[in-house]
Amino acid sequence: MDKGGEALLKTEKLTHIYGKGTPFERTAIKDVDFEVHSGEIMGVIGHTGSGKSTLAQHLNALLKPASGRVLLNGEDIWRGEKKVSSVRFAVGLVFQYPEYQLFEETVYKDIAFGVKNSGVPEKDIESAVYSAMDFVHLDKSVAAKSPFELSGGQKRRVAIAGVIAMMPKVLVLDEPTAGLDPKGRREILSHIRAYRDATGASVVLITHSMDEIARLSDRVTVINRGEIALGGSVREVFSREDSLTRIGLRAPVVSRVLRRLHAMGIDVDCGACTVEQAIAELKRVAGDARA
Ligand SMILES: Nc1ncnc2c1ncn2[C@@H]1O[C@H](COP(=O)(O)OP(=O)(O)OP(=O)(O)O)[C@@H](O)[C@H]1O
Ligand SMILES: [Mg+2]
Repeated sequence: MDKGGEALLKTEKLTHIYGKGTPFERTAIKDVDFEVHSGEIMGVIGHTGSGKSTLAQHLNALLKPASGRVLLNGEDIWRGEKKVSSVRFAVGLVFQYPEYQLFEETVYKDIAFGVKNSGVPEKDIESAVYSAMDFVHLDKSVAAKSPFELSGGQKRRVAIAGVIAMMPKVLVLDEPTAGLDPKGRREILSHIRAYRDATGASVVLITHSMDEIARLSDRVTVINRGEIALGGSVREVFSREDSLTRIGLRAPVVSRVLRRLHAMGIDVDCGACTVEQAIAELKRVAGDARA
């Protein structure tokens, strides 16, 4: 992971205004500086309407900034017309509720749609589709079905596979687990991690869930009313309880419990964020106390 070097994808003072010059004018994001490094999973969290989807759509050039820049490998993605289309393949965006955008007769065709447009040679399309299906644990037998025959969770996986098939260097997912049950959520998160681990791609994971951030992210950006409120490693951000509370967010229960124990004089590491990490940490402390 190249955390020290130049960011793979970044925004500089990115501002977007919807309906500029109309009575409905609305500044959705303002002066946003956001960075994603190669191979990392960056979580983005914020309330409804805070600007997460607006930011996401700038990362693959679906929206054009009112001001500010988006840089991929240090180059402004809006300088030169050709660049915009190549950015759309390098930065893959899975929309909020992407299953509503499935439209082909078969799962295979739906997943193949983006790859075909990306200029992958015909002979390589089939393997790209099946490898993407593997990442999201869709059985080959599903390929010939209509996407509309599938369950909600399976449809979501088809939509994610359609983006993964293009092998994006940055995979941006806008609330990929919204509306799924806990098992479906865990599965989607593990598929995302598998894609990152196998390809070294970066991931931007937009979510409403601090627990998902704790489980998956290396770093986290908190966005509030269109501006970056906090950013850093998951450990750093979760330790800023006061700042999170001020904007109406809370660190995961596990982090808060560990902080209370620490305040009571128990020598736990407050950086543990998931239940599994906390159990390991409590066992360690119990072991130390017995020794
Ligand atoms: N197409 C649009 N036209 C006008 N205003 C918009 C449009 N899309 C979003 N907005 C406004 O911009 C702001 C940011 O919206 P955005 O969808 O980026 O937020 P979000 O953080 O993704 O919210 P959610 O968690 O509900 O998905 C909101 O005030 C929203 O009402
Ligand atoms: Mg959104």
